[in-house]
Amino acid sequence: MRQLLFFSNNKNKIIEIKKIFNKFNLQLLSLKDVGISEEPEESGKTFEENAKIKSDYGFSKTGIPCFADDSGICIESLSWKPGVFSKRFLNEFKSKEACFKSIIKITKDNDNQNAYFKTSISLSINNDRNIIFNGKVDGKISEKIRGNFGFGYDPIFIPIHYKKTLAELSTKEKNEISHRAIAVTKLINFLFN
Ligand code: IMP
Repeated sequence: MRQLLFFSNNKNKIIEIKKIFNKFNLQLLSLKDVGISEEPEESGKTFEENAKIKSDYGFSKTGIPCFADDSGICIESLSWKPGVFSKRFLNEFKSKEACFKSIIKITKDNDNQNAYFKTSISLSINNDRNIIFNGKVDGKISEKIRGNFGFGYDPIFIPIHYKKTLAELSTKEKNEISHRAIAVTKLINFLFN
Protein backbone atom coordinates (compact mmCIF):
# COMPACT_ATOMS: atom_id res chain seq x y z
CA MET A 1 0.00 0.00 0.00
CA ARG A 2 1.24 3.50 -0.83
CA GLN A 3 2.21 5.70 2.11
CA LEU A 4 1.62 9.43 2.47
CA LEU A 5 2.72 11.64 5.35
CA PHE A 6 0.54 14.55 6.55
CA PHE A 7 2.81 17.13 8.17
CA SER A 8 0.68 18.47 11.03
CA ASN A 9 0.48 18.31 14.80
CA ASN A 10 -3.05 19.70 14.87
CA LYS A 11 -5.22 16.85 16.25
CA ASN A 12 -8.48 18.14 14.73
CA LYS A 13 -6.93 18.53 11.30
CA ILE A 14 -5.40 15.04 11.45
CA ILE A 15 -8.78 13.49 12.35
CA GLU A 16 -10.50 15.46 9.56
CA ILE A 17 -7.89 14.52 6.96
CA LYS A 18 -7.72 10.86 8.05
CA LYS A 19 -11.52 10.67 7.61
CA ILE A 20 -11.28 12.04 4.08
CA PHE A 21 -8.49 9.62 3.11
CA ASN A 22 -10.15 6.58 4.72
CA LYS A 23 -11.91 5.53 1.56
CA PHE A 24 -8.73 5.47 -0.50
CA ASN A 25 -6.20 2.66 -0.71
CA LEU A 26 -3.41 4.57 0.97
CA GLN A 27 -1.76 4.56 4.39
CA LEU A 28 -1.94 8.09 5.75
CA LEU A 29 0.71 8.74 8.38
CA SER A 30 0.93 11.59 10.86
CA LEU A 31 4.08 13.13 12.37
CA LYS A 32 3.53 11.04 15.48
CA ASP A 33 3.43 7.83 13.39
CA VAL A 34 6.89 8.60 11.98
CA GLY A 35 8.35 9.95 15.24
CA ILE A 36 8.87 13.57 14.16
CA SER A 37 8.36 15.97 17.05
CA GLU A 38 10.13 19.08 15.79
CA GLU A 39 8.84 21.46 13.11
CA PRO A 40 10.79 23.85 10.86
CA GLU A 41 10.39 27.60 11.32
CA GLU A 42 7.53 28.95 9.18
CA SER A 43 9.61 31.80 7.79
CA GLY A 44 7.81 32.15 4.44
CA LYS A 45 6.05 35.31 3.26
CA THR A 46 3.19 33.40 1.67
CA PHE A 47 0.96 30.43 2.52
CA GLU A 48 2.56 28.55 -0.40
CA GLU A 49 6.10 29.12 0.93
CA ASN A 50 5.22 28.01 4.47
CA ALA A 51 3.40 24.90 3.24
CA LYS A 52 6.43 24.01 1.08
CA ILE A 53 8.88 24.50 3.97
CA LYS A 54 6.87 21.95 5.99
CA SER A 55 6.27 19.36 3.24
CA ASP A 56 9.94 19.48 2.08
CA TYR A 57 11.04 19.01 5.68
CA GLY A 58 8.76 15.99 6.14
CA PHE A 59 9.98 14.39 2.90
CA SER A 60 13.66 15.05 3.67
CA LYS A 61 13.35 13.45 7.14
CA THR A 62 11.45 10.31 6.05
CA GLY A 63 11.70 9.79 2.28
CA ILE A 64 7.90 9.38 2.31
CA PRO A 65 5.83 11.65 0.01
CA CYS A 66 4.58 14.37 2.31
CA PHE A 67 1.96 17.11 2.25
CA ALA A 68 1.45 20.09 4.54
CA ASP A 69 -1.02 22.94 4.66
CA ASP A 70 -0.88 26.56 5.71
CA SER A 71 -3.85 28.85 5.98
CA GLY A 72 -5.25 32.09 7.32
CA ILE A 73 -7.59 35.02 6.88
CA CYS A 74 -6.88 38.12 4.73
CA ILE A 75 -8.90 41.30 5.39
CA GLU A 76 -8.96 44.18 2.91
CA SER A 77 -9.32 46.87 5.61
CA LEU A 78 -6.10 45.52 7.16
CA SER A 79 -4.25 45.71 3.83
CA TRP A 80 -5.12 42.02 3.33
CA LYS A 81 -3.43 41.03 6.60
CA PRO A 82 -3.00 39.11 8.93
CA GLY A 83 -2.53 36.39 6.24
CA VAL A 84 0.33 34.10 7.22
CA PHE A 85 0.35 35.74 10.66
CA SER A 86 -3.29 34.82 11.42
CA LYS A 87 -2.48 32.63 14.42
CA ARG A 88 0.03 35.09 15.89
CA PHE A 89 -2.32 38.06 15.31
CA LEU A 90 -5.09 36.38 17.32
CA ASN A 91 -2.66 35.62 20.14
CA GLU A 92 -1.56 39.27 20.38
CA PHE A 93 -4.90 40.24 21.94
CA LYS A 94 -5.92 39.49 25.50
CA SER A 95 -8.82 37.40 24.21
CA LYS A 96 -10.33 36.19 20.97
CA GLU A 97 -13.27 38.49 21.60
CA ALA A 98 -10.97 41.52 21.86
CA CYS A 99 -9.38 40.59 18.54
CA PHE A 100 -12.74 40.11 16.82
CA LYS A 101 -14.10 43.42 18.19
CA SER A 102 -11.03 45.25 16.92
CA ILE A 103 -11.42 43.74 13.43
CA ILE A 104 -15.15 44.53 13.35
CA LYS A 105 -14.47 48.14 14.35
CA ILE A 106 -11.73 48.67 11.73
CA THR A 107 -13.84 47.18 8.94
CA LYS A 108 -16.85 49.29 10.00
CA ASP A 109 -14.74 52.47 10.20
CA ASN A 110 -13.39 51.77 6.71
CA ASP A 111 -16.81 50.76 5.43
CA ASN A 112 -15.11 47.75 3.87
CA GLN A 113 -15.85 44.23 5.17
CA ASN A 114 -14.19 42.27 2.36
CA ALA A 115 -12.15 39.27 3.44
CA TYR A 116 -11.13 35.79 2.37
CA PHE A 117 -9.71 32.61 3.82
CA LYS A 118 -6.96 30.83 1.94
CA THR A 119 -5.29 27.44 2.30
CA SER A 120 -2.22 26.29 0.42
CA ILE A 121 -1.30 22.63 0.42
CA SER A 122 2.17 21.62 -0.70
CA LEU A 123 2.90 18.03 -1.73
CA SER A 124 6.59 17.04 -1.86
CA ILE A 125 7.09 13.84 -3.81
CA ASN A 126 10.84 13.90 -4.22
CA ASN A 127 13.81 16.17 -3.58
CA ASP A 128 13.07 18.59 -6.38
CA ARG A 129 9.37 18.16 -7.06
CA ASN A 130 6.64 19.84 -5.12
CA ILE A 131 3.11 20.71 -6.18
CA ILE A 132 0.86 23.40 -4.72
CA PHE A 133 -2.95 23.18 -4.38
CA ASN A 134 -4.78 26.34 -3.34
CA GLY A 135 -8.26 26.85 -1.91
CA LYS A 136 -9.96 30.18 -1.25
CA VAL A 137 -13.32 31.27 0.08
CA ASP A 138 -14.40 34.90 -0.34
CA GLY A 139 -16.66 36.61 2.13
CA LYS A 140 -17.24 39.48 4.54
CA ILE A 141 -16.46 40.29 8.14
CA SER A 142 -19.72 40.18 10.12
CA GLU A 143 -21.02 43.13 12.15
CA LYS A 144 -21.30 40.94 15.24
CA ILE A 145 -19.49 37.91 16.68
CA ARG A 146 -21.82 34.96 15.96
CA GLY A 147 -21.78 31.16 16.39
CA ASN A 148 -20.04 28.50 18.42
CA PHE A 149 -18.84 25.95 15.87
CA GLY A 150 -15.47 25.85 14.17
CA PHE A 151 -12.32 27.59 15.35
CA GLY A 152 -10.12 30.65 14.78
CA TYR A 153 -11.86 33.49 12.94
CA ASP A 154 -15.00 31.49 12.07
CA PRO A 155 -17.34 33.60 14.34
CA ILE A 156 -16.69 36.80 12.31
CA PHE A 157 -16.54 35.47 8.75
CA ILE A 158 -19.60 35.24 6.49
CA PRO A 159 -18.86 33.28 3.29
CA ILE A 160 -20.12 34.74 0.03
CA HIS A 161 -23.77 33.74 -0.76
CA TYR A 162 -24.38 32.99 2.95
CA LYS A 163 -26.03 34.93 5.77
CA LYS A 164 -24.49 32.90 8.60
CA THR A 165 -20.91 33.07 9.87
CA LEU A 166 -18.74 29.97 9.47
CA ALA A 167 -19.19 29.39 13.22
CA GLU A 168 -22.96 29.14 12.72
CA LEU A 169 -22.58 26.44 10.05
CA SER A 170 -22.22 22.77 11.03
CA THR A 171 -18.83 21.14 10.45
CA LYS A 172 -20.38 19.26 7.52
CA GLU A 173 -21.68 22.49 5.94
CA LYS A 174 -18.35 24.26 6.49
CA ASN A 175 -16.46 21.34 4.95
CA GLU A 176 -18.54 21.62 1.80
CA ILE A 177 -17.38 25.18 1.07
CA SER A 178 -14.22 25.86 3.03
CA HIS A 179 -10.87 26.96 1.63
CA ARG A 180 -9.30 23.85 3.18
CA ALA A 181 -11.88 21.51 1.60
CA ILE A 182 -11.27 23.07 -1.83
CA ALA A 183 -7.49 22.59 -1.55
CA VAL A 184 -7.85 19.01 -0.21
CA THR A 185 -10.21 18.10 -3.08
CA LYS A 186 -7.59 19.31 -5.58
CA LEU A 187 -4.92 17.21 -3.82
CA ILE A 188 -7.14 14.12 -3.89
CA ASN A 189 -7.96 14.61 -7.59
CA PHE A 190 -4.22 14.81 -8.30
CA LEU A 191 -3.43 11.68 -6.25
CA PHE A 192 -6.23 9.43 -7.38
CA ASN A 193 -7.25 10.48 -10.91
P1 IMP B 1 -3.25 26.95 9.95
O1 IMP B 1 -2.06 27.33 9.14
O2 IMP B 1 -4.26 26.16 9.14
O3 IMP B 1 -2.91 26.27 11.24
O4 IMP B 1 -4.04 28.30 10.31
C1 IMP B 1 -3.43 29.40 10.95
C2 IMP B 1 -4.47 30.23 11.63
O5 IMP B 1 -5.38 30.78 10.66
C3 IMP B 1 -5.35 29.46 12.61
O6 IMP B 1 -4.77 29.42 13.87
C4 IMP B 1 -6.64 30.29 12.60
O7 IMP B 1 -6.53 31.38 13.47
C5 IMP B 1 -6.71 30.81 11.17
N1 IMP B 1 -7.54 29.90 10.36
C6 IMP B 1 -7.12 29.04 9.40
N2 IMP B 1 -8.14 28.35 8.87
C7 IMP B 1 -9.24 28.78 9.52
C8 IMP B 1 -10.63 28.43 9.42
O8 IMP B 1 -11.06 27.55 8.66
N3 IMP B 1 -11.45 29.11 10.24
C9 IMP B 1 -11.04 30.08 11.10
N4 IMP B 1 -9.78 30.41 11.24
C10 IMP B 1 -8.86 29.77 10.45
